[in-house]
Amino acid sequence: MITVSRIKDLRAAIQQQKQARKRVAFVPTMGNLHAGHISLVKRAHEMADYVVTSIFVNPLQFGAHEDLDKYPRTLDADKAQLVNAGNHALYTPTATQIYPKGLEQHTKVIVPGITESHCGASRPGHFTGVSTVVNILFNLVQPDIALFGEKDYQQVAVIRKMVKDLGMPIQIETVATMREPSGLAMSSRNGYLSAAEKQTAAKIYKLLKDMASRIEKGARDYDSLILAGKATLADVGFEVDYLSIAQSDTLAPAKPEDSEITLLVAAKLGSTRLIDNISISLSTS
Ligand code: PAJ
Repeated sequence: MITVSRIKDLRAAIQQQKQARKRVAFVPTMGNLHAGHISLVKRAHEMADYVVTSIFVNPLQFGAHEDLDKYPRTLDADKAQLVNAGNHALYTPTATQIYPKGLEQHTKVIVPGITESHCGASRPGHFTGVSTVVNILFNLVQPDIALFGEKDYQQVAVIRKMVKDLGMPIQIETVATMREPSGLAMSSRNGYLSAAEKQTAAKIYKLLKDMASRIEKGARDYDSLILAGKATLADVGFEVDYLSIAQSDTLAPAKPEDSEITLLVAAKLGSTRLIDNISISLSTS
């Protein structure tokens, strides 16, 4: 595996692959890699000839009071995992390389609509930070395919819309959420949790599965399901940001007649914000 941090080295490595007509896959990350990230790299390996992963803790997507400074940085361990997964190139830019004139002065990519609810409502500017950095990274790497985790459901929807609206010739692939044996979705932020909090955190997925199974059995009073679900989480110590039953494509509140449904949740345990989701397909016959 090569590790590059300068744009010209990245471009040179990619150009060589393109000239050899190799298919390039790209996995953008913020590092502190776990099995979830690695599943994206492995899938990328199956789908392309050359796999590029980036590690960049993107300051533009963190709010003023969020965890940018304490976000875990574990480059050596990350590299070892990437080598094992067969990653070919690791791109580790600095903030100055990505935003030479600072965050304020940088051109932004704003994706309207889908960014306004859920995490977009509670983290103003977050998705503009994500779409902007992913756009920059896409232009630098110029991949044929880019892979994202279903764990960040709204993020994938934002990226898909950006790619479509801006006519970017990149195939977006998603990979299922990797979970701990307890059901807890793997996340770099799980490292902030104590052992006891981790046990509590697993109740998020348990609740989503329970709600999904009720809906699959015919429950359609979504408002009551949401109220009860929020109470269940609050009872075990969560501060619920949102719990919603949404149309999978628009993320608007689901109606009883909708068949493609996604349950999404964001909740804080202490100061750690956790998100998760489940999608279900209801037969309309
Ligand atoms: P990060 O949180 O590091 O996640 C990088 C990728 O790994 C994302 O596509 C995310 O959805 C995926 N991922 C995280 N946990 C996962 C899990 N348990 N199972 C499967 N995939 C998982 O998401 C970001 O970074 C950033 O917003 C980024 C897209 C890199 C832009 O800065």
